[in-house]
Amino acid sequence: IRRRQMVVGNWKMNGSKQENTHLLAEVMHSWVPLTQVDVAICPPFVYLPQVADTLQGSGIVWGGQSINPNATGAFTGEVSARMLSDFDAAYVIVGHNERRRLRGESDQYVAEQFLAAQREGLIPILCVGESEEAREAGHALDAITAQLSVVIEKAGIGAFANAVVAYEPIWAVGTGKSATPQEAEQVHKHIRQLFGDLGSQLTLLYGGSVKVHNAAELFALEDIDGALLGGASLDAKEFLAICRCAE
Ligand code: G3H
Repeated sequence: IRRRQMVVGNWKMNGSKQENTHLLAEVMHSWVPLTQVDVAICPPFVYLPQVADTLQGSGIVWGGQSINPNATGAFTGEVSARMLSDFDAAYVIVGHNERRRLRGESDQYVAEQFLAAQREGLIPILCVGESEEAREAGHALDAITAQLSVVIEKAGIGAFANAVVAYEPIWAVGTGKSATPQEAEQVHKHIRQLFGDLGSQLTLLYGGSVKVHNAAELFALEDIDGALLGGASLDAKEFLAICRCAE
């Protein structure tokens, strides 16, 4: 059975009101609803209302790039899962490698974010991926197993029926150097095995320098259900072309 496919655009810290207006107008102008692909856009928090207002009713949904796992309180500069739900967000990215590295987010903290997202009805997009050193040392699969195990232990395997996992090798993010289809497929297969019976139902995305020229060959692989896009989501034509590749 072919699982539903998914393409998520992570804008990271890019955009302005004006740039977003143009980008979203271009996306909406050429957007034709897809039947097999769920499409989401994750803008910086401050632009969530703008994105929500524009995409409302289009079939493209939206999400956050991170959350604080607490419900409310004295957490200056943070945003909760409930606040994202307040703007009808469907998804939230947790454990992106940029947050793990820049903000020191641990596996344990990522597991708390995962649970907080689900408590508020958001679908977490859990990112995992190995460093270049781990891959070169032959430890890629171990590194990914370790990251996932902490969340599986805390949330339970069953929680992943309502979650998305994104495999993003750190050395492939924003570098233009994507994993080869074989490298990606090997890791995806391994991740499905970690989930036992649930493995075949898991929505599992690849992320890391996915562009229109390599999307089709990645999406053709049995264990890859779509992509988490960074750079390519900032160009309407490229973003839509990749969404269509997944259909
Ligand atoms: O969240 C998205 C990923 O980090 C991929 O970014 O497509 O710019 O390599 P990239």
